[in-house]
Amino acid sequence: MKVGVPKELKDHEYRVAITPAGVRELTSHGHEVLIETDAGRGSSIFNEEFESAGAKIAPDADTVFAESDMVLKVKEPVPEEFHRLREGLILFTYLHLAASEPVTKALLDSGTTGVAYETIELPDRSLPLLAPMSEVAGRMAPHVGANLLERGHGGRGILMGGVSGVRPANVVVIGAGMSGMNAAWIAQGMEAEVIVLDKNINKLRDIDRIHQGKIKTLMSNKLTVEESVVQADLVIGAVLVPGAKAPRIVTRDSISSMKAGSVIVDISIDQGGCFETSKMTTHSDPTYVVDDVVHYCVGNMPGAVPHTSTYALTNATLDYVLALAAHGLQAAVADPGFALGINTYKGKCVYEPVASAHQIPYTPLSDLF
Ligand SMILES: NC(=O)c1ccc[n+]([C@@H]2O[C@H](COP(=O)([O-])OP(=O)(O)OC[C@H]3O[C@@H](n4cnc5c(N)ncnc54)[C@H](O)[C@@H]3O)[C@@H](O)[C@H]2O)c1
Repeated sequence: MKVGVPKELKDHEYRVAITPAGVRELTSHGHEVLIETDAGRGSSIFNEEFESAGAKIAPDADTVFAESDMVLKVKEPVPEEFHRLREGLILFTYLHLAASEPVTKALLDSGTTGVAYETIELPDRSLPLLAPMSEVAGRMAPHVGANLLERGHGGRGILMGGVSGVRPANVVVIGAGMSGMNAAWIAQGMEAEVIVLDKNINKLRDIDRIHQGKIKTLMSNKLTVEESVVQADLVIGAVLVPGAKAPRIVTRDSISSMKAGSVIVDISIDQGGCFETSKMTTHSDPTYVVDDVVHYCVGNMPGAVPHTSTYALTNATLDYVLALAAHGLQAAVADPGFALGINTYKGKCVYEPVASAHQIPYTPLSDLF
């Protein structure tokens, strides 16, 4: 198969959909890989590295789309890319179609086969191609929080780990899933005092077993959330209710009761945020202040560390890419979890939540295969 990788066009998107290791795997299985010139530059991966792994470098995105059977991307296509979509092309990327009618329409009108990273599931219903980005965001959150706790960045002027004879920062993480666990782990590694709250007792048991008391755990309910947040220097929001908006767990009253210069990092902001005062921010203007509390609510945190994020993402996507390259769409159709990734096919919407989000007809994939 001919596999193409264009440069990402979305604002502040520096990731690229393949690494040299991915190119080597594909070419060693007999596939051709065509990469737009400088597609990896934002992730500090250069043309020569792709070429020595066996890729060909294309002068522009038009060539990549026109000459490829499957195009790999990181983010959904932007309007400047719509004219490159066509019937027969497999587009494998984060699509988030329920959130975008124009992208859904562009895929349907062109007949492109849209396979979304974020809707592929494993048998236990977990989302294998979302997890690596949660891991990145979780591990970033204590760094971001530590920085914002500095006086010059609006914080209380607290060093995360304290020093001998002086208390460290009090860090509260709400949600003990992929991002929350990673956030707690890194904050504890920075020698902060860390408390993690979750509604799922098994997640808390895992933390106790692994961290043996170095990270405190609490069942999440109104009272424990209120009491923990008020005492915190840094609160990291990392909850997810799959398929739904994030529950607004922390009230404006609790936020107003926090110490001046405390910091909130709301990782859950891409699902609406779990603080009553959260609103989406960007890497160019990441923070704002409500009731003297610094808020950081960037929706694409991994974009700040594109090199790491590119490798983390492609480590997770590569097996799926290899399967699609070897067997075409049949690879996805034959595996129920992978099949959930197929959102559009030959002008039909085959993923029910997207059809219902836009009130368009839904065609079960089984009707088409
Ligand atoms: N901002 C970003 O750049 C960025 C990057 C990656 C992921 N995310 C988002 O971060 C969020 C978390 O993702 P994840 O992969 O860690 O999810 P996850 O499913 O692994 O974990 C979510 C946790 O939240 C817990 N939870 C649900 N309701 C709760 C409540 N009321 N109180 C306490 N805990 C509760 C669940 O039990 C679960 O353990 C998602 O919205 C995801 O999209 C954002």
